[in-house]
Amino acid sequence: MSSRGRFITLEGGEGVGKSTNLAWVADHLMDRGLEVVRTREPGGTPRAEAIRQLLLDPADDEPLDVDAELLLVFAARAQHLARVVCPALARGAWVVCDRFTDATFAYQGGGRGIPARRIAELESFVQQGLQPDLTLLLDMPMEAAQRRLEGRLGRDGGARDRFERERGEFFQAVRRAYLARAAEDPHRIAVVDADRPLGQVQAELSRLLDNCLESWR
Ligand SMILES: Nc1ncnc2c1ncn2[C@@H]1O[C@H](COP(=O)(O)OP(=O)(O)O)[C@@H](O)[C@H]1O
Ligand SMILES: [Mg+2]
Repeated sequence: MSSRGRFITLEGGEGVGKSTNLAWVADHLMDRGLEVVRTREPGGTPRAEAIRQLLLDPADDEPLDVDAELLLVFAARAQHLARVVCPALARGAWVVCDRFTDATFAYQGGGRGIPARRIAELESFVQQGLQPDLTLLLDMPMEAAQRRLEGRLGRDGGARDRFERERGEFFQAVRRAYLARAAEDPHRIAVVDADRPLGQVQAELSRLLDNCLESWR
């Protein structure tokens, strides 16, 4: 195994099972004796989590400008990379992250309509070439994911955040943008059909992870 850790991201729209499977992926890797750091974006450090609150706050007294939204996402990312992700990878830990820059291309690009080349400029500025080693894109039809999300919101007594309040066409655009990215980079991004019982989803995740563990050895 190389001395640098590996960077694995989970992606997909609301309710596809990212948080559920993040914990499972981390446990799967720890069972194989790896040091694993579990984290999420936007957020992952106290200051980056404060930026997350700004991004998710549904207060409608002041609409958030789309470019301001994009820059906040990358500001949180810069802080998270500097404080958590890069130090962990450097010491040989594996980092498993709930969302990363593919989400920016999907939400701020596909959803908000910001040109991909502008996002790519910020990506290279902030990431300096760092990319996930493996991205697990959980994909399913939006309507089914929305039903799951409603189940979760019902149990949490949770109010919808600024993104969860978006309309169906926003989420369709997010899904299309995710799938387009996967088609452009099929070696890094594995599309997993998330509209199946959890056991089947995790059996596929297990296969994908074990293949990578084998090929990275
Ligand atoms: N494969 C699955 N089948 C049925 N329900 C699922 C599955 N995966 C996740 N869920 C449930 O769907 C809801 C949303 O999952 P969650 O992991 O919170 O999604 P995300 O983090 O992508 O928004 C949760 O209530 C979770 O228990
Ligand atoms: Mg989640």
